[in-house]
Amino acid sequence: MVITLDSPLDMHLHLRDGDMLQIVAPLSAETFAGALVMPNLVPPVTTKEAVCAYRARICDAVGEACFTPYMTLFFKSDYTPEFLESVKEEILAVKLYPAGITTNSEGGVSGFDLAELSPVLGAMSELGIPLCVHGESAGFVMDREKEFIPIYEKLATHFPNLKIVMEHITTKEAVAALERFENLYATITLHHLYITLDDVAGGLLQPHLFCKPIAKRPEDREALLKAALEAHEKVMFGSDSAPHPRSAKEAPGCAAGVFTAPLALPALAQLFESHGALGRLQAFVSDNARRIYGVNPPEKEVILEKSPYLVPEIYEGTVVPMFAGQSLQWRVLRVG
Ligand code: NCD
Ligand code: ZN
Repeated sequence: MVITLDSPLDMHLHLRDGDMLQIVAPLSAETFAGALVMPNLVPPVTTKEAVCAYRARICDAVGEACFTPYMTLFFKSDYTPEFLESVKEEILAVKLYPAGITTNSEGGVSGFDLAELSPVLGAMSELGIPLCVHGESAGFVMDREKEFIPIYEKLATHFPNLKIVMEHITTKEAVAALERFENLYATITLHHLYITLDDVAGGLLQPHLFCKPIAKRPEDREALLKAALEAHEKVMFGSDSAPHPRSAKEAPGCAAGVFTAPLALPALAQLFESHGALGRLQAFVSDNARRIYGVNPPEKEVILEKSPYLVPEIYEGTVVPMFAGQSLQWRVLRVG
């Protein structure tokens, strides 16, 4: 059995910088036609120069591969409309992080005071720049996304023309919110379709499955699966592939992030096939994102075949992927 995907897109990707960028960027570029690249570097990507320089380093790292990095800017409430207008052509979205909620988010937003955020959000709305949000409160870890939903509602109501993407959603409440507001969209990761908190911490602790937002309950995973498998028109694939060196994962104070980029398409094919939904994978991994963001990625045909694929234990001796050392039922046969 084979399936051909036309220009798959990963609409939430961490490519890092330096040596890690050199390792992971080619792995995404191998099978994806493009990706929305997150700006949580140290320091975060907050200027036009930083956006352009980061894009150049990414292009350098992927070499000849046909791959478009769609860039994002790290949200700051003191951006001026003039600045946003000047950077608009270089970015696809602005990414908002609550301060300190995840990896390298210390410079994010505290308090969610609408009066403070409004000038920038209003300008983005007028300029047609989408807002991507890491939607977690600072509350109890299992409740953080649910507690953030009222903030999404406030933003969606006050800025009806602003496209708001709820990133890496993990709860049934977030899936339900999609239906209530026309301007709310979402990305769903691979790992949140496969795992619940049980897989992370129900037996021996699995640091390579630890991420923000943390995987939730079975009923949450079911709601995410339903939305993904039906390729809900407001939902896109965003891997949130977030590599950390093995030494930072297998350690006290384990860093948050699951590395999935190189095996994302085989694992998605396996999941969609097992639910009789292979026919909707194209919409989930590409068509929905093209429509929502209005992007036109480069032509890239990815042919996947149902045949065993042994996921590497580690890449370049540095970064351990999800399913390390395990066999998946699908593999990439050819990329054209
Ligand atoms: C991401 C990272 O490491 O950059 N970590 C994660 O657990 N998902 C940041 C993020 O998207 O929260
Ligand atoms: Zn992320």
